[in-house]
Amino acid sequence: MSKSYRVAILGATGAVGKELLELLEHRNFPIADLKLLASQRSEGRKLAFGGENLPVEPVSDGAFDNVDLVLASAGGSTSIVWAPKAVGAGAVVIDNSSAFRMNPEVPLVIPEVNPEAAENHQGIIAVPNCTTILMAVAVWPLHKVRPVQRIVAATYQSASGAGAKAMEEVKTQTSAILEGKQPVAEVFPYPLAFNLFPHNSPLNDLGYCEEEMKMVNETRKIFGNQQIRITATCVRVPVLRAHSEAINLEFETAFSPDEAREILSQSPGVKLVEDWKANHFPMPIEATGRDEVLVGRIRQDISHPCGLELWLCGDQIRKGAALNAIQIAELLVEKNLLKSLVRSH
Ligand code: A2P
Repeated sequence: MSKSYRVAILGATGAVGKELLELLEHRNFPIADLKLLASQRSEGRKLAFGGENLPVEPVSDGAFDNVDLVLASAGGSTSIVWAPKAVGAGAVVIDNSSAFRMNPEVPLVIPEVNPEAAENHQGIIAVPNCTTILMAVAVWPLHKVRPVQRIVAATYQSASGAGAKAMEEVKTQTSAILEGKQPVAEVFPYPLAFNLFPHNSPLNDLGYCEEEMKMVNETRKIFGNQQIRITATCVRVPVLRAHSEAINLEFETAFSPDEAREILSQSPGVKLVEDWKANHFPMPIEATGRDEVLVGRIRQDISHPCGLELWLCGDQIRKGAALNAIQIAELLVEKNLLKSLVRSH
């Protein structure tokens, strides 16, 4: 009989948490028992899974006893506290937050890119930032054929990246504006409906925000290459779900758009969407709810002989977070890596 696992979702009531529930069911992950954890605020709530309504429990000491796998998506400050406790209780943690991503002992994994990194995990495996994942899935297959020297990215990021409450806020603001009322901004610093603004994560001394530096540093770690020059401008746009990115790539030698197209049409996790006659290219509404990163508008950069331009859209909640986490879990199961470090020592 094949093995099944005791799973806990930390942050089950959030946007990514709900997607994790759906994907676990949809992809038939081998679950022996499922525990739903969130904050004290969610005590008494129930969430549907497998035809049952499962109770949500506030996370507490002891919550991870008899748990094999924790899928954590409750923010960095929550993961910092609870992930080490979960590992101490014998679980393996796949963490969607930024808390451990740049820790040299923690693998940062995109299964289509660097699955081998998961093999040396010490209990925690980090899921990269959503914009980083979407870009890496599209750039890696090209980089493998001809190493990329420089990446210039501009992102158009949906409200979903800031969680379920942010998505609600954009809807409420949109209705308010259409009714001639003042939009109220609580989750975001400014109204996002009918507006856009540079990503509001903290700025460093060079004027780059945290989100932009995640794209720089995480991509280098995932690709195992500190030499790639990367710069990004991240912008929040009034799209509910699915991020878009304009990517400029510079190679050492010319990379023809046709060759790039051929490679990307066969790459895992990528779907080429290009209808030049109809001017139909990836759009967030078509990426929403899909597993693949949609890539298109591949063209020679007219300003550089070795430059390539491409445009992509990907579901931030799905491949940018929940799906990537579940794919890591599936990888651990397949490679028999889902075992407690505590018990095996
Ligand atoms: P809760 O619904 O009880 O606040 P999102 O990214 O969509 O905002 O979701 C965040 C998730 O993280 C929610 O499930 C939220 O639970 C959970 N969460 C936030 N803070 C904590 C905390 N201190 N302890 C446990 N779970 C938390």
